[in-house]
Amino acid sequence: MKIPFLLRVVRSTQKIIRAQSHISSNVNQDEKKFFITTPIFYVNASPHIGHLYSAVVADCQSRYKQLRGFQTKFSTGTDEHGLKIQQAAEAASEDPLLFCTNVSQKFKHLFNTCSISCTDYIRTTEQRHYASVEHFWSALKDKGLIYKGTYEGWYSTPDESFLTASQVGDAVDSSGENVKISLESGHKVEWMKEENYMFRLSMFRPQLLDWLKGNPNAVRPEHFHQAVVQWLQEDLPDLSVSRQKSRLQWGIPVPGDPDQTIYVWLDALVNYLTVAGYPKNHQQWWSVARHVIGKDILKFHAIYWPAFLLGAGLPLPHTIHVHSHWTVGGKKMSKSLGNVVDPLERSSVYTTDGMRYFLLRQGVPDTDCDYTDDKVIKLLNAELADSLGGLLNRCTAPALNPAQVYPLFCPALFPVECTKQSRAVDEDYQMLDAVRNLSTTVEQYYEDMHVYKALEAVSACVRQTNGFVQRHTPWKLNRLDTEERLWQDTIIHIALECLRIYGTLLQPVVPQISNKLLSKLGVKQSERSWTALHFLPRFHGMDCPFEGRALGADNDVLFNRLERRNVKQKTKKEKASKKNLE
Ligand code: MSP
Repeated sequence: MKIPFLLRVVRSTQKIIRAQSHISSNVNQDEKKFFITTPIFYVNASPHIGHLYSAVVADCQSRYKQLRGFQTKFSTGTDEHGLKIQQAAEAASEDPLLFCTNVSQKFKHLFNTCSISCTDYIRTTEQRHYASVEHFWSALKDKGLIYKGTYEGWYSTPDESFLTASQVGDAVDSSGENVKISLESGHKVEWMKEENYMFRLSMFRPQLLDWLKGNPNAVRPEHFHQAVVQWLQEDLPDLSVSRQKSRLQWGIPVPGDPDQTIYVWLDALVNYLTVAGYPKNHQQWWSVARHVIGKDILKFHAIYWPAFLLGAGLPLPHTIHVHSHWTVGGKKMSKSLGNVVDPLERSSVYTTDGMRYFLLRQGVPDTDCDYTDDKVIKLLNAELADSLGGLLNRCTAPALNPAQVYPLFCPALFPVECTKQSRAVDEDYQMLDAVRNLSTTVEQYYEDMHVYKALEAVSACVRQTNGFVQRHTPWKLNRLDTEERLWQDTIIHIALECLRIYGTLLQPVVPQISNKLLSKLGVKQSERSWTALHFLPRFHGMDCPFEGRALGADNDVLFNRLERRNVKQKTKKEKASKKNLE
């Protein structure tokens, strides 16, 4: 009886996989909808820069897609159930919900402060999520994919993860005791034997491999995709998806069996469906879902989650974007090592856009990055204060731009072809080419989530524009002479056009700085989208809507240079006020 039924499940999941790439790309193109998620954050500890990084990566994508005219949905939130949270609340002698609310608000506050433009902030303790998880569980149960069995094996509470014998090793803990640890995370594991509900994960191995084979973009970057394929070469045991209530009370009870609590990862993963509107109106958003995750939670997202979805008869995510980790002093951040970098405190020292720029400019998807304050100061001073800020400052300074307008471009002085007589030289034309091609380059990098490369490209062009201004020393030209004045205006016009392009392209990364820059140039909100990028139209004989327009009144510097001494003082102050609050 059971076998033919399960066979039907397998066949229908195969259909889902075949339809998968077709559905995702079509809906995306036709309806211009974009749905991106961050992982939901555990509330057992306060946020650190690694958490902010996950959120900033997703925020940058969401903002970029909006500029491209997409209707976007962007969710983040907190993961509040499970043994780890239950134990943390017990250790703090607090009511679990109050404990969760307190930390969840810290994440929310951080994200609001750092311009994370989420459209939904979900907490797994919300009623809408309970309803969604119960429905999802029942869908799996009704298909015969959940059965009662006995689980015996290793469990890591800090990772809320089951491990096979090959994933466990020996270690000695701080009190000199021999312990078993997870080889991947280094966290201590315990042996558990329990009667609970099992999910038929083993059944999904071929479909998961088909999915990965048929969708080369299912997991990005490529080497993470390969890692999942590799994991799937080994046996895939069924997965325990509940715990006995006597051990785990803090969670969603198994529908129809109040003695069992749903496994926190099943509960947590369903958050993505909850925010999409599951179980009623999820189709339109669910078919275009993309997840941003850190590399430590790849197995849950690229094996368990697609298997659950296939089991429930739902489409799989369009792409799982994986990023690497931030370390401090080459080590994982941890309270016991005392190397946790507080993103709120750092943002108040470096500004939130400064922090965002640093994380996205230095964070690469493939390898871990080490955080140091020194790197932040050097990078922000060089690229935001000196290079970009300096360029804007020079070109809008009253001495060079007495009328405070977007000056006129003179085609006769900057002809389409470089000639021996023209004042413009070959390097100027190369600079124009680079800026003209920049939006296509940046677009490709944003699409591939190689934001650091996009920023590198922008930064290189900013340097070229500074070189252009430096080469022609417009401050030495005599405005009383007509030709000199026209040439000076042309140089400034070109430099402002370059700045307009940089400001527009940088919006997903540094929304406040971009806003300041574009406002200074007099660029209206409606002129800041990707379609408005058209660079230097006057060079091609077309009208430029900005020419002759008054510049914005704000004369504040774009980004204040960071002086090490001030940074130290500010950091001290921030730490003291944080201590007072605790
Ligand atoms: N609650 C789970 C996710 C459930 S999603 C259905 C969880 N939470 S977490 O708080 O531990 O991690 C949240 C995100 O932060 C993950 O993407 C994780 O990779 C990321 N980071 C945690 N530490 C990090 C660094 N040191 N560096 C970069 N990102 C890191 O896992």
